[in-house]
Amino acid sequence: MKIVVTGTGGQVVTSLIEAAASMPDIELVAVGRPDLDLADTASIRQAILDAKPDIVVSAAAYTTVDRAEDERNLAYAINVVGAAAVAEVAATLHVPIIHLSTNYVFSGDEAYPYDEEDEAEPKTVYGYTKLRSERAVASVNPRHIILRTSWLYSPFGHNFVRTMLRIAAERQTIAVVSDQWGNPTSALDLADAILLVATHPTRHHTGIFHVAGTGETNWSGFARYIFEVSRTLGGPFAEVQDIVSADYRTRAKRPSNSCLSTDKFDRIFGWRAPSWQVSANTVIRRIIDADYPGSPSRAHGKRKA
Ligand SMILES: NC(=O)c1ccc[n+]([C@@H]2O[C@H](COP(=O)([O-])OP(=O)(O)OC[C@H]3O[C@@H](n4cnc5c(N)ncnc54)[C@H](OP(=O)(O)O)[C@@H]3O)[C@@H](O)[C@H]2O)c1
Repeated sequence: MKIVVTGTGGQVVTSLIEAAASMPDIELVAVGRPDLDLADTASIRQAILDAKPDIVVSAAAYTTVDRAEDERNLAYAINVVGAAAVAEVAATLHVPIIHLSTNYVFSGDEAYPYDEEDEAEPKTVYGYTKLRSERAVASVNPRHIILRTSWLYSPFGHNFVRTMLRIAAERQTIAVVSDQWGNPTSALDLADAILLVATHPTRHHTGIFHVAGTGETNWSGFARYIFEVSRTLGGPFAEVQDIVSADYRTRAKRPSNSCLSTDKFDRIFGWRAPSWQVSANTVIRRIIDADYPGSPSRAHGKRKA
């Protein structure tokens, strides 16, 4: 099976490339800029037609949540018009599309984990464009699976785990918000889920599914866990000071509760991600091995022990 994924250097793309490398029946091809630019629909059509996929994974997106508030046209062009064009080419080729979306489609005002039937009511430009992308993809390709995920991290690219470790190498105390709740999700696990869907014998499933790490936490709880693991490995760590979102202003206001219920995915595909702590442990280890091998920051962590 040939899987064509959009983007080349993103967290999910890189995790997919790694996971597919050990699956002999899968050929995974990543197409991204400059060959496929989501802001240029002609390039999308040509790149995907040339790649001749059996299935398309739409993983590339405009993902900078704060900047999107000031670049709404670009975010819309990439996330909505671009994603729709990807889905349309897949439809032309009569192949399914797996499209990634986000927990930030929800307002975050409810106290329970959101399921697929809950009303989406994004409060950010990014969340709005991703919700519109879901609708656009679904309207042009009947063979669509939309996977909403949350709080992605991985050994690759920009993410919370790498940021926390980098800052801890420079500071002893870090202030982190404790009033935003969610499910940290390893992109390595998400890649497994995507490949499961792509190769699932009953590929006629369509619709929206939530896929996220199992268990909930808030950002400061996540940061504390990162430093707990890192400290035992001789990596950087810092003291975490809880703060509230009102004291940490960002351009885009994040939802207070963006936890996702993953029961539907489990019911249909028989798969649930490991607990977020188990998956985070794996990723923290990999980052420390790759980024802090006997570095001064590692020594910094040891000094404070
Ligand atoms: N990160 C999260 O916490 C999170 C949470 C929920 C859902 N999601 C969704 O999950 C998906 C994957 O996220 P991620 O964390 O892997 O993203 P990421 O690491 O930020 O990577 C974004 C990817 O999109 C590509 N891209 C951006 N603009 C593009 C354009 N104009 N044309 C072609 N490619 C473009 C980038 O290409 P280059 O390699 O060329 O830079 C990169 O491969 C996205 O749909 C995102 O909305 C993410």
